[in-house]
Amino acid sequence: MSKILSTTPLFEAEAERLGAAGHELWMPAQPGTLSDANLLSRLSEAEALLCLLSDRIDAEILRAGSCLKLVANIAVGYENVDVDAARDLGIAVTNTPDVLTEATADMTFALLLAAARRIPEANAALRDGQFPVWRLDQPLLGLDVHGKTLGILGMGRIGSAVARRGRLGFGMRVLYYNRTRREEVEEEIGAEFVPFDRLLKESDFLCVHVPGTDETRHLMDADALSLMKPTAILVNAARGPVVDEAALGDALAKGTIAGAGLDVFEREPDVHPTLLAASERVVLTPHLGSATRDTRRAMVCLAVDNVLAVLSGEGAITPV
Ligand code: 8YV
Repeated sequence: MSKILSTTPLFEAEAERLGAAGHELWMPAQPGTLSDANLLSRLSEAEALLCLLSDRIDAEILRAGSCLKLVANIAVGYENVDVDAARDLGIAVTNTPDVLTEATADMTFALLLAAARRIPEANAALRDGQFPVWRLDQPLLGLDVHGKTLGILGMGRIGSAVARRGRLGFGMRVLYYNRTRREEVEEEIGAEFVPFDRLLKESDFLCVHVPGTDETRHLMDADALSLMKPTAILVNAARGPVVDEAALGDALAKGTIAGAGLDVFEREPDVHPTLLAASERVVLTPHLGSATRDTRRAMVCLAVDNVLAVLSGEGAITPV
């Protein structure tokens, strides 16, 4: 029997699985109510910790886990965990890859289509009693998506899933930039590997799918944005700090690019005021990429699978 700590309430079925395996689970009744002090005091007996992307699991917290064997992050990203400190302390760290790939790719395309066809603006206009008359150049004119050029910055699991949707679903030409060539994706959907500046210059829709690291911070800065087409739309459902929000707000205000679909922000939950002020072809959502019922259940299920595997000595299933 091991003691397990979760920083958030789990779905009942998953909590029961841990109990059925003979483990003792402690979790708060409500999300976001576990203070650092409470976490530190409860960690001293825990052999496994389940946590979210919004939980900062640093060296101090890891050291408080004197019997900790595993940190199971309920997210594919794990920049919230000090992985080096965990390794030094002999604590495994796991994430939840693959189970959220398709949901996040769906969200990316939803943002792309919503920005291109100005769906939030149209929805708000109609609810405000406006129904633009039948005219050719009507005020909510959008941008075509089918047959255009889709640029993928970071051709990993989610980037590839977005590329597949663009190519197979919308007949788009797919360009990508990645640290390494992804020949299998090139063969599968005819994606073309190009240098970063060509990706910026030729994409009608540029989708960001790189992880949040020191290396990718502000990859999309004022210089990069200035190379994009004035008709282009930027989509980011990956990590906020990849895009310099102030520079993006400026680029949208000046018409350097035509729009943006954003699900992540530099300083969540804060959003740069210039982005909140921009409405034309700008769609903002609060980090909902993986927020579907089935996908969130699959994320928790995989995290619990990792806990059961490590506590039974089998080793982590998805170690980072
Ligand atoms: C968040 C994500 O985990 O998995 C990731 O890396 O960014 C998301 O799935 C989720 O929004 C919960 O915070």
